[in-house]
Amino acid sequence: MNELSQRYSRPRWDYLGETKSGILTIEGLPVTEIAKKYGTPCYIMVERAIRQRFREFKAAFPYPKLRVQYASKCNSNLEIMRIANQEGVELDASSIGEVILALLADFSPHEITLTNLYKTPQDILFAVKVGVLAITADSLEDLELIAQVGKSINKKIRIFIRLTPTIDLGQYTTRKVQYGIPYAQYKKACDFAARSPYLNPIGLHFHGPYVYNPKVYFIAAKKLVDVAEYMIREHNQKISYIDLGGSFPVAYGDTEVFHPRDMGKKFSDYFVKLIYKANLPLPYLVFEPGKFFVANTGVGLTRVISKKLRRTTTLVVDGSTYAFLPDPIIYEDAVYDILPASKMQQRRSQHYKIAGCTCDCIDTICKSVHLPQTKPGDLLAIMDCGAYSNTIASNFNSLKRAPMVMVNEEGVARLIRRRDRFSDMFAPELDVLKVADPHELQRYYNLFRVNINKMWGEHKEKKSPVRGRFSSQSKRRAKKSPPAQPLATPDLSNPITTATT
Ligand SMILES: Cc1ncc(COP(=O)(O)O)c(C=O)c1O
Repeated sequence: MNELSQRYSRPRWDYLGETKSGILTIEGLPVTEIAKKYGTPCYIMVERAIRQRFREFKAAFPYPKLRVQYASKCNSNLEIMRIANQEGVELDASSIGEVILALLADFSPHEITLTNLYKTPQDILFAVKVGVLAITADSLEDLELIAQVGKSINKKIRIFIRLTPTIDLGQYTTRKVQYGIPYAQYKKACDFAARSPYLNPIGLHFHGPYVYNPKVYFIAAKKLVDVAEYMIREHNQKISYIDLGGSFPVAYGDTEVFHPRDMGKKFSDYFVKLIYKANLPLPYLVFEPGKFFVANTGVGLTRVISKKLRRTTTLVVDGSTYAFLPDPIIYEDAVYDILPASKMQQRRSQHYKIAGCTCDCIDTICKSVHLPQTKPGDLLAIMDCGAYSNTIASNFNSLKRAPMVMVNEEGVARLIRRRDRFSDMFAPELDVLKVADPHELQRYYNLFRVNINKMWGEHKEKKSPVRGRFSSQSKRRAKKSPPAQPLATPDLSNPITTATT
């Protein structure tokens, strides 16, 4: 096993290497083995790197009352959440679904906060009953709703008040974000929360859009500490938590971004000074990053399925921006590093466009990447895609979303999420059909009669590499393979009884 060749290496990918024959390895495991066992496309997460990111973040802030939460919206895989838990990190849930996942991942309720823009009374009741640390109120309306729910159960509900101060720093601005209570309304929000017999405002919250400049956290801290001072002065209400959100940057391609350790010590000292100056008791300082922990620790493995001669030669792969890597269709400037996973030692000689496999012309994973001569069957590794890929991916074109594999330090891979099944994908409609009027069923007869998953399993997907060329040998093989079994003609006379067979 070799180190990754210089032309591809980046310090953040210390888990990559390559075999003597030029196959990319992850923690020493050749990706061809992962492709063979789990198929492509698939996500590969690197356990050691994830743990390291959690530890680096915690070590960056020498503040005595630091609480780090994982914003699971960026990758809510249960195993990753369990690793966060083992690493002493708490959880920022953006929905009741994520609260439930957090409980499944063994977080204690008091390690979970629920922060989002929209919650129903039932969501609030559920979160209170579970006993989450706090529910974050995102608007004046949200505050009122939470208070109403508190009244209905005669309980004071622990809340964080989410505020959005205006911060303009060069290109950076919070002016366009829709979340949080505008800072100009903080007194209104605080007065309401402090006076309500059904709210216990224990924390203040801020989350800004993608932070390029650490000064954002310094400015936000000052604004929130001012509000904490207001709360104690006007209402004798102690603020025990100051939450400054996530949005720590991650490197994609050759962009350089600040690391929490570059600002953590200075920020911690500054924050302590702010608190002492305001004569407040030291609150917990909360951060809730998502992508910082997992973006650079995930690799997307995909296989080239065809090559098309266009102005820029186009390689179509078996992943897509919809079901696999949605970032490029959400952010115009999203650019992944793409490595020739099965040809790491060959000289780069050509620029290719990498297109996803749906019939949509915007399904472009990368407009231009420099690679060795590449042909159908070759594997490509899409780097730094561990955050906001699987959780945003959809079943557009009724494609299955990819499985996720975790590779440990010894180079052992295990499945941590299976590929979608047709039955998962169609359940919302099939469930409706099941309870439809029996006469209606005739129209959907085939869906009932055929066990789709079983049929699919019988004609299992081939996981062996795609042939590079449609050779005469492969044509011969194609002729020899047995003809597909025709479906028996359905007997429509009694759809219900036949449906169960
Ligand atoms: C409230 C809140 N906290 C944390 C995060 C995590 O952000 P990031 O993954 O950019 O760190 C988000 C992302 O949208 C968020 O809305």
